[in-house]
Amino acid sequence: ASASEEKDLVIIGGGVAGYVAAIKAGQEGLKVACIEKRGTLGGTCLNVGCIPSKSLLNNSHLYHQILHDSKNRGIEVGEVKLNLETFMKAKETAVTGLTKGVEFLLKKNGAEYIKGTGSFINENEIKVELNDGGESVIRGKNILIATGSEATPFPGLTIDEQRVVTSTGAIALQKVPETMTVIGGGIIGLEMASVWSRLGAKVTVVEFLGQIGGPGMDTEISKATQRILKKQGIEFKLNTKVVSGDTSSELVKLDVDAAKGGKPESIDSEVVLVAIGRRPYTQGLGLENIGLETDERGRVIIDSEYRTKIPHIRCIGDVTFGPMLAHKAEEEAVAVVEYISKGHGHVNYGCIPSVMYTHPEVAWVGQSEQDLKAQNIPYKIGTFPFSANSRAKTNLDSEGLVKILADPETDRLLGAHIVGPGAGEMIAEATLALEYGASSEDIARTCHAHPTLAEAFKEAAMATYDKAIHF
Ligand code: FAD
Ligand code: NAI
Repeated sequence: ASASEEKDLVIIGGGVAGYVAAIKAGQEGLKVACIEKRGTLGGTCLNVGCIPSKSLLNNSHLYHQILHDSKNRGIEVGEVKLNLETFMKAKETAVTGLTKGVEFLLKKNGAEYIKGTGSFINENEIKVELNDGGESVIRGKNILIATGSEATPFPGLTIDEQRVVTSTGAIALQKVPETMTVIGGGIIGLEMASVWSRLGAKVTVVEFLGQIGGPGMDTEISKATQRILKKQGIEFKLNTKVVSGDTSSELVKLDVDAAKGGKPESIDSEVVLVAIGRRPYTQGLGLENIGLETDERGRVIIDSEYRTKIPHIRCIGDVTFGPMLAHKAEEEAVAVVEYISKGHGHVNYGCIPSVMYTHPEVAWVGQSEQDLKAQNIPYKIGTFPFSANSRAKTNLDSEGLVKILADPETDRLLGAHIVGPGAGEMIAEATLALEYGASSEDIARTCHAHPTLAEAFKEAAMATYDKAIHF
């Protein structure tokens, strides 16, 4: 880029939000550049988030299953050994393949990729400190902030990514720790607890609230999930606050306080994972140079068309409002480019699925029972256990349930909550039903193939207005 060059759209940040917007803008015929400082595209999700964590989750599940769940299936194996180095290489291969693939897609769609750190000089010009050295200035008719988020630190505990880690360190440990304590029983905490516990660590999760799973998980599903994860060997301390930490000894010491009058105690562990949420990232972006403010949680303030108070500067993804999810960022990326190129775009925020990739998976969309109660919205419930689903039984993998919430008068679907095998795939059906305004009877009268796990979803829908057949 040279100082005189002007683009229709300049994007700061090449995570899911930024790179998808770049591809979409290229497809719309806009002259577009995407500035990313990391050295690879794909942001948190592809480099240190969704993708590497799912590689570790998939392969640790396989390892654990071979060790503990093969003999009863008539499969006798010899000595099973973990080669953590190769295990981590498999993760890196997935990451490299996908980040390179994204780079190719930008090129294919005519979007320029600039490796460097962008900051606002003024409302139309971005200074880029290039990764290879030197600086350039790029002008944009439109500018999109897509700088993402970072792990929220725990006060008083210095992150070294070796003994005190965020998710970034937790996906790259060089040995299986004997003991691990996880601060925060949200999605990162539980996914990482699953990985390391399956590989042999003794894992304790300390959660401030009375339930696990982070915001949004239905309480009944959360309780069922906790029971299942406990059976797998993960220990939970709920309603418990970490007060302070000490890294001066060989083991990291955490002082914890039971919120409801329990005894204070301390926990020693080889590794501590801090997983208490993520916060928007705008460091070094120069928002102060253009007078843009963030709210009390550091989020860039926008309107319903993703505009900041400077109308040609917009913002999407983790750095602004809404759930910090890759697919939410992707939907916004398409919508924001459509606003720029066509004047209209759309994201249905009531219909964004969540998936936790433990085993079994937990997935939900729409409102939880506690949400509906809090708003005094009437509802009826249909549930169906996987223990009554023929495929789950055949697979010897039948823990969990489907829970469907529907309007008692119109029968319209209000929410779907699943803990069970294949929940992350099954939630796509629920999301489509919710998006189309389906009734639970619409779902229940749709023919589902037999024997599939999705029949559990159909029968839970049936149970909201009639009796399920197999339970
Ligand atoms: P980011 O992915 O954070 O990308 C922002 C990019 O901007 C970064 O690459 C950063 O380097 C760059 N940047 C910042 N400032 C500048 C600057 N000034 N100049 C140039 N570049 C800059 N979500 C899911 O939906 N499913 C999952 O399974 C899932 N798993 C996750 C697992 C983990 C361990 C973590 C941490 C997150 C996970 N997430 C998951 C969340 C998901 O990663 C985020 O929601 C998603 O990455 C947000 O995309 P984004 O583009 O808004 O931000
Ligand atoms: P989170 O918000 O999901 O959970 C954080 C948990 O920590 C909450 O349950 C909270 O009550 C607890 N907590 C906060 N302070 C605490 C304290 N002092 N002591 C004990 N507990 C405390 O955040 P998390 O797990 O860090 O994940 C961040 C984001 O990343 C999530 O919002 C999620 O959107 C995204 N993500 C999504 C994944 C997916 O879709 N599968 C996977 C991983 C991350």
